[in-house]
Order: sequence, then structure tokens, then C-alpha cells
Amino acid sequence: MNLAEAIAYIFPAYVANGAPVVFVRALGRSHPIDLGARAWDGRRVLGDGKTFEGLLSGILSGFMVGLIILFMGNLGGFRSPLEPLVLSLGAMCGDILGAFLKRRMGIERGRPAPILDQLGFLAVALASAYVVYGPPRWLDGYTLAAIILITVALHLSTNAGAYLLGLKDRPY
Ligand code: CTP
Ligand code: MG
Repeated sequence: MNLAEAIAYIFPAYVANGAPVVFVRALGRSHPIDLGARAWDGRRVLGDGKTFEGLLSGILSGFMVGLIILFMGNLGGFRSPLEPLVLSLGAMCGDILGAFLKRRMGIERGRPAPILDQLGFLAVALASAYVVYGPPRWLDGYTLAAIILITVALHLSTNAGAYLLGLKDRPY
């Protein structure tokens, strides 16, 4: 079990996932990625919760934080300076895919989808980096299970915190 390295490794994905909430609120205006389009079921393709501004802020913030971790002694064991970028891109793709699936299931923007909301971004981030760079050094069954539990706990608590700070309209 190498939990510290695993947490440092996935940290860019966390930052990518969390940054849009702050950035989009600070910007005050944003443009939906689906441009308002609706899918075959009459519902929005992604909805107003997935914007270009959020996407860009997530990718850049995750990448930058990853580079800082890399230069602080590579605590996450990144194999390339681009690995944090792949993790951040993967996290944002997972988040967008999650929104797409939620809309197709008839779950409105901002309404909760347990598991998908907490772990969708992580699954796609890890899978993307796995495809490009192979298994990370920290990877074993116990560490992965611990990372999943920590991610769920962290996601629930940071969202509740963002709600208390007035950044989000709902505590999840
Ligand atoms: N956000 C954004 N663009 C993204 C991701 C997130 O603008 N690509 C912003 C939106 O303001 C969003 C907030 O971050 O409301 C929180 O993100 P999230 O919880 O993923 O979105 P939800 O509003 O819950 O929408 P959905 O149900 O589609 O997940
Ligand atoms: Mg949400």
C-alpha cells in the first residue's frame, strides 16, 4: 500500500474536477459546451453545468498543480510532465460523460447521481493515464480501494463545504 503516492498522483484530477465551481462563479458568465442543444430524448445533451470556461479552468488548474507536484520531488511518481495533463483531461471527460449519462437517465442538471458524481471523473482519469503510461507504481488492489473510499468522502465533504461557502446552490 502506497497511499501518499497514490493521493499525490490523482491530485491533479481532484483539482480539475473542483476548479470549475470556483472559476465559473468568479467569472460570472459561461458558455455551455452543448451550445444549448438537445439530444434525441428532448433533454439537453449535457446541460448548463458543463461549460467551456469550466472545462478550460479544470484542465489548466489540474495540469499546473500536477507540475508543482512534479517539481516538489515528484511525490506522485509521474512518468512524464504530461501525465498530470492526461489525468486532468481524463477527469474532465469523465465529468462530461457523467453529465451526458445523467441527462439520458432523466436526471436534471445539478441533481445527484450517487457513485457517478463521485467516481466518474476518477475512473476516466485513471483509465486515460493507464492507457497512455501503463499502470502507476502505486497501483494495487488495496490502494485502489482506499483511493476510491477517500475520493467519495472528499467529494461529499468538499461539495458540502462549497455549499457552505456559497459557491454551490446545493450541498452535493
Ligand atoms: N462546471 C462547469 N463546466 C464544467 C464542469 C463544471 O462550468 N465542465 C461548473 C458548473 O457551474 C457546475 C459546477 O461547476 O454547476 C459544479 O460541477 P458539477 O457538480 O459537475 O455540475 P452539476 O451542476 O452538478 O451538473 P451535472 O448534473 O451535469 O453534473
Ligand atoms: Mg453536481
